[in-house]
Amino acid sequence: MLLHVPDILGPDQLQQMRAALDAADWTDGRETVGAQGAQVKRNQQLPDASPLREQLGQQVLAALDRSPLYFAAALPLRTLPPRFNRYTGGGEYGFHVDGSVMALDRPGQARSHVRSDLSCTLFLSEPDEYDGGELIISDTYGEHEVKLPAGDLILYPSSSLHKVVPVTRGARLASFFWVQSMIRDDTRRSLLLEMDTAIQTLTRTGGDPAAVLQLTGVYHNLLRGWAEV
Ligand code: NI
Repeated sequence: MLLHVPDILGPDQLQQMRAALDAADWTDGRETVGAQGAQVKRNQQLPDASPLREQLGQQVLAALDRSPLYFAAALPLRTLPPRFNRYTGGGEYGFHVDGSVMALDRPGQARSHVRSDLSCTLFLSEPDEYDGGELIISDTYGEHEVKLPAGDLILYPSSSLHKVVPVTRGARLASFFWVQSMIRDDTRRSLLLEMDTAIQTLTRTGGDPAAVLQLTGVYHNLLRGWAEV
């Protein structure tokens, strides 16, 4: 499932984040990838240990918490700390697949691991601020081109091949992160989102309360049967 979640960040929060990122110290994005990724990755990132990355990452996580659509679609169990990247001057990231299991090191806690079920990109630059920079996601339906307004997020299966095409004018800023979902299987997760969406619509439009209750029960019993927590 490829899902566009609009308005994760409001204009004020976006403006503050942009001001902080414009003044930030960026490093080579190849520091956080394996050998295959390093061959095709040409961008900049905020260092993982940077206090600014930590601070802005917390803001992104808090914004995700306020989005019912994001929660319904991702059914998140564990989320890697959001990172921030910048593509400029021809920067690109060729076709690659994201790592499947990632280490999560938090101060004072034992190392844990996160399985990447979902990849997320939160766009922080407006589409007219740069040329190129489309995120291309390749799946069994073909290639999808994604370039969203600042503040909007795309969520897609981490199993898909994807790339960012060269940015030939301006700068493309984004936050990106991975999610381990309570529902590992993409098809099951999509079904739950569709059912949740239908239940919300029936509730809003005054559907038969007994039927809504029954469907809500089915939703939760499917979730109970499928969830890994
Ligand atoms: Ni990737």
